[in-house]
Amino acid sequence: MSFKHEIFEKNSIFLLVGILIMVAIGGLVEIAPLFYLENTIEKVKGMRPYTPLELAGRNIYIREGCYNCHSQMIRSTRDEVERYGHYSLAAESMYDHPFQWGSKRTGPDLARVGKKYSDEWHRAHLIAPRAIVPESVMPGYPFLAKNDLKFNNISADLKANQIVGVPYSDDQVTFAAQDVKAQLDEDSEGYDDFMTRYPSAMVRDFDGNPEKISEMDAIIAYMQMLGTLVDFSLYNEKENNR
Ligand code: HEC
Repeated sequence: MSFKHEIFEKNSIFLLVGILIMVAIGGLVEIAPLFYLENTIEKVKGMRPYTPLELAGRNIYIREGCYNCHSQMIRSTRDEVERYGHYSLAAESMYDHPFQWGSKRTGPDLARVGKKYSDEWHRAHLIAPRAIVPESVMPGYPFLAKNDLKFNNISADLKANQIVGVPYSDDQVTFAAQDVKAQLDEDSEGYDDFMTRYPSAMVRDFDGNPEKISEMDAIIAYMQMLGTLVDFSLYNEKENNR
């Protein structure tokens, strides 16, 4: 055995080829199964794709660079869990393209900010953060309330997500623009269809101005659903009794 090994030890080219073969085998064993497994992320009850309005809000979040100051990933350390709630699960960002994890936190983590504040709070805070939190360094985004939400292309957005694996149905793609309006108004024509397509969605006028479908509507709809899909009351029991 040691004699045969000498070939490798005395000849760097053989050694190199030998290493490449070994690494290739190791790589195949680790990587190949990932292409065949249906899902490498453990499924969690409650997860659903974003509604078109939430997705539009998410696009604004990315456009405005909110991720430069906010992460959406609660780590499993005790201080994080006590401050923000249950640590983030992989499944909670399974429909995120691109994901919003990150390690840069000028502001707090937003993974579970949904339902923490009222819509009015978010509106006032986004328009003028220092009116709510005097020491805040967050910039104001007053134009979000003034800008009309452009959602005539929202179907294409859902379609793009569908192509990369988000399980949107063809109906959800086709009626995306109608669903944007339905999520803002319980009395709209498409309301019932919307609720069948997105059973747990919150429906209301988020920006406080029913006359207008604004970018503020979309970003608040997105903020208010973050971290609310999975019911952690079961998981949390142990932590609460600590
Ligand atoms: C320059 C960094 C910065 C940017 C950019 C920024 N924020 Fe903030 N954000 C902060 C800071 C700092 C706080 C904490 C003080 C406060 O509440 O204003 C905060 C707080 C928040 C809170 C309250 C979180 C909580 O749990 O109390 C929300 C919601 C929020 N930001 C949303 C946004 C959104 C949406 C955007 C993009 C449109 C954004 N932020 C962009 C720095 C930033």
